[in-house]
Amino acid sequence: MSDSQLHSHPEAQSEEKVGREEKEEKRGEGTYALVSDEPERARLDSQHERVKALFDGSLLPAGLQLQSGDRVLDAGTGTGNWALDVARSLPPSSGVSIDSMDITDRLFPASPPPNVHFSTGNILALPPSGTYTLVHQRFLTAAFSAADWRACLARLYDALKPGGWLRMEEMRAFIQPATLPHAGEFLAFGALLEGVTGINFRAVDNIEQWVREAGFADVQVDVRRWPLGPGEEGKENREGVMQGWGAVRRAMSAAGNDLGMSDARWAQFMSDAAGDLEAHESWLTVHAFTARKPVAGDA
Ligand SMILES: C[S@@+](CC[C@H](N)C(=O)[O-])C[C@H]1O[C@@H](n2cnc3c(N)ncnc32)[C@H](O)[C@@H]1O
Repeated sequence: MSDSQLHSHPEAQSEEKVGREEKEEKRGEGTYALVSDEPERARLDSQHERVKALFDGSLLPAGLQLQSGDRVLDAGTGTGNWALDVARSLPPSSGVSIDSMDITDRLFPASPPPNVHFSTGNILALPPSGTYTLVHQRFLTAAFSAADWRACLARLYDALKPGGWLRMEEMRAFIQPATLPHAGEFLAFGALLEGVTGINFRAVDNIEQWVREAGFADVQVDVRRWPLGPGEEGKENREGVMQGWGAVRRAMSAAGNDLGMSDARWAQFMSDAAGDLEAHESWLTVHAFTARKPVAGDA
């Protein structure tokens, strides 16, 4: 990607601004950079297994034992892979009810178990029910601006009952290290996408602070390195990352925006990225955040 594609001339900048403003208007209904289609279903389900393994197989916050009557919310559930896995891990008559919510029902499973309830809804408009023992949310990095993140955390806080738990996993969306041969292009692609969509791909660096500002206590952060290369190391992870970029490309194309990259240029970009990751030590980081809503009288 050339500099001129990034620092475009005034007309293009003004078009980008209009695009951003249109996106901002739509933001109340949610904005998400990836398409929700069948390849994406497969990618998310495979990713679930690898993220679970990255965190030693744990699905729930350490110290939380779900009990009969507890309600759990999986916000931005996608295919519901996390919620279905939690349901499978509980005894058949556990009495735990799981709400799986997403802005679209496109990836919902056909026949979920009776204690997992799928519904469409926007996290940013979640009702302040104060009923959930646990709210889980994973990988909304490609959906929210900084303002959205603050609103999201306020909504999740209000959905929890006092003493309830928040568990989130988010990714640092930028591939490391910065010394990869095409690192400048990866950064430029992220910046271009941020400019067009208003999404903040660097949010993970601020989430701990925003969680605290939302009123949560006992905030803990567990950062794990997710290898992408070289060679066989991280092969599935890097294929997943590349497929995720493909899902961004399909979403943007469906919206009539090729991000200034022809199909040939895109294919070259993807090939350069695959070559870098396969040949060099490279990684992403996944950040798990655990926190609790204080009970009245807590400091
Ligand atoms: C990267 S996927 C992650 C799905 C799932 N949490 C997982 O880890 O497999 C992000 C999901 O968030 C959903 N989403 C995006 N914006 C949303 C919003 N404002 N409210 C609810 N869901 C949203 C998308 O439709 C998508 O299914």
